[in-house]
Parts: sequence; structure tokens; C-alpha cells
Amino acid sequence: MKIAPITPDFAAAISDIDLSQPLTAEQVTGIARAIAKYAVLIFRDQPLTDDQHAAFTRNFGPIDKGLLLGSKRKRRLANADVIDLANLDLEGNVLPPSNIRNVSLIANQYWHSDSSFKAPPGKFSILCGMALPRDGGQTEFADQRAAYDALSDIMKARLENLVAEHYAFHSRDMLGGSGHSEGEADALPPVHWPIVHTVPESGRKSMFVGIHTREIGGMDTPEARMLLHDLLEHVTQRQFVHRHEWQANDVLMWDNQCTLHRGRAYDLSKLRELRRCTTEVVAGAAAQAVG
Ligand code: OGA
Ligand code: MN
Repeated sequence: MKIAPITPDFAAAISDIDLSQPLTAEQVTGIARAIAKYAVLIFRDQPLTDDQHAAFTRNFGPIDKGLLLGSKRKRRLANADVIDLANLDLEGNVLPPSNIRNVSLIANQYWHSDSSFKAPPGKFSILCGMALPRDGGQTEFADQRAAYDALSDIMKARLENLVAEHYAFHSRDMLGGSGHSEGEADALPPVHWPIVHTVPESGRKSMFVGIHTREIGGMDTPEARMLLHDLLEHVTQRQFVHRHEWQANDVLMWDNQCTLHRGRAYDLSKLRELRRCTTEVVAGAAAQAVG
């Protein structure tokens, strides 16, 4: 396995490994160490079936169901561990741009951390790109560890004990309401996470914000929303961001506990097909994985 860093400690390309095959313990440890350091990993030319995608993911923890938790909607994909991010209907036709399913896909264009709105939250996401539009549709990542390090001492002290509320449908509400059912909302009540935490695998402090955050404990809503807005603006400054230009069969893996990501806009009438699996945070698992 070869590791080619894109910057000294954020984003690395990994080659000389076949993700479709069962991994050795050394390979799993190698990937765990690489993601602890670089937070975003890029594997080129890795066509995976859904079963291979899910099997690769399970090396790193139990599978997270994300928004599917409270959903009874019909699915296009047979494997229930794989989240469908294609703008396709059940018959495989590109959705009309105004279709309700596009709301979730457009919400992915806000900076976010997968499943930060549930307990346990998302840990590693593994995203396979099958078909990408010619223009736009890139995926960007922001390093919330570097963003923490760059805060002033005054801001670090101010954030130290703050806890934010994360709500699954806040991003949809921002887009004018999502049409989600009461059952879907009931299955995903708001959760609360510190705005600053330590990532166990690296020992590095990181911010933990994004579009799912809605309130801050003990603060009035207007002050909280503006602080969350300012923090998001801070984290997503260009110097903390890596932009991925997709090629078909790229696989991206990232740590949701210390990065944010977003898709970039594209022509919704063009096919864009990606699939994702995500693991849940497992308390105490990190030290073992990295050894
Ligand atoms: C995701 C996601 C962004 C994109 O897969 O979780 O937010 O570029 N994707 O589609
Ligand atoms: Mn996402």
C-alpha cells in the first residue's frame, strides 16, 4: 500500500491495494493509521459491487443507517447498508430536477458531517463514484482540526465547554422544507455534541460544526446561529479545504469526526451517481484499531 499525501496532514491518495478483496489485518491497520493522520483518503480505479463496498466498510465499524433510520421509502438498491446518492428514480431514470428526492441531494451541497444528527454519530464514510457530470459535482472537504488549531486563544477558551444541538432536518428546512414524514422526524430527534472535541485516533483537537447544528446550549437562538455561522465560515476557509475532482470508480473515505464535506452544484438534469456506506462511532474502538 502506497500513501501519497496531498498536503502534509490533510488528504492522501492510497494506491497498491484492491478494495474489492478481503483485506489483511495489516491493510486494515494501515488504512486506519492513514485516516487518523490525513482524515481524507482517495483511492482511484476501485470498481466495487455494493456487497464489496459494504464488506470493505465493515472492517472499520458497524454500519450507520443515517437518514434511512426512520424511512419506509422504497429503495433502488438491494443492499440495505448502501445509501443511494444517485439522482435516479426506482426505474433508473434521471429524476426531474424538482423531484422531492433531489432535496436531500441538494442538502448535501451544504457543509456537513454525515449522521452528526444521531447517536452514535457517523465515523467513516466511504463514497464510491460511478457516474459523474462533466461540469461541477465535485466533493470538497474541510479540515476541522487545522481550523481548530488556527483559532485564537480567546476563541478556543470561549468554545471549550459549548455544546451544539444537531438536527437531521435542519438542512432540509433551510431549503424550504423537505416533505419528510412525522415518522422520519420522530426517529431522529436532535442530539447534542461538544463544539470542540479530541479525536481519539490522533489525539488532535477538532471543531465539530456544520449545517446540522441549530442551537448552542445556554445561548439565545440568534446569538447561537450567528456564532455557528461564523464558525462554519472559519472552518471552510480555502486553506483548510481540499476539492476532489471525480473520476469514475474513485472511492473516497473520510473521518466525519474531524472533517466537513459538501458536494458542489451541477446541472440536476445530468446523471450523477454515487453510493455511500458509513460506520458509526464506537466508544473505545479507536485505540484498538490503530494499535
Ligand atoms: C455524502 C455527501 C457529497 C457529494 O455522500 O455523504 O454528502 O458530493 N456527498 O455528493
Ligand atoms: Mn454527506
